[in-house]
Amino acid sequence: MEQFNVFGLPKKYTDEMADKLNQLLSDFQIYYQNLRGMHWNIKGAHFLVLHVKLEELYNVAAENVDEIAERILILENQPLHTLQDYVQQSSLPVARDVRDPQQAINFVIGNLKALIDLERKLISVAEAYNDHGTITILSDYISRQEKEVWMLRSSLQE
Ligand SMILES: [Fe+2]
Repeated sequence: MEQFNVFGLPKKYTDEMADKLNQLLSDFQIYYQNLRGMHWNIKGAHFLVLHVKLEELYNVAAENVDEIAERILILENQPLHTLQDYVQQSSLPVARDVRDPQQAINFVIGNLKALIDLERKLISVAEAYNDHGTITILSDYISRQEKEVWMLRSSLQE
């Protein structure tokens, strides 16, 4: 007999979505740490602007991390919480010793595109089950991240 959670979503689905959200959570943790590293290491004439922008981005990422973890709990599963798990699960590239502003901006754009890509995939799974709670969270991320990509790309144009 099929099991359902308190909101009427099938357990088969909530388990699958929790796994996918754990992957997104892991990507967000790597993204967060990438931003912090670049916030610290960036050099040059654009330091002041980029240092502040990267801080703004990692603060948003930290809020997203908490929201994703709590969504996994709402779906009656367990969020990953160790750094080891995040490193194992994430498929995002790691930004090591990134000091050049253009390289940093391109790196952030690449990370954001990868996050958007995964979020879109999760939404298409959630849509099949009318899981609007998950869809709304992820859709909000996508619109904000697309705006960030636009602003970052604009900053690269002469
Ligand atoms: Fe700082």
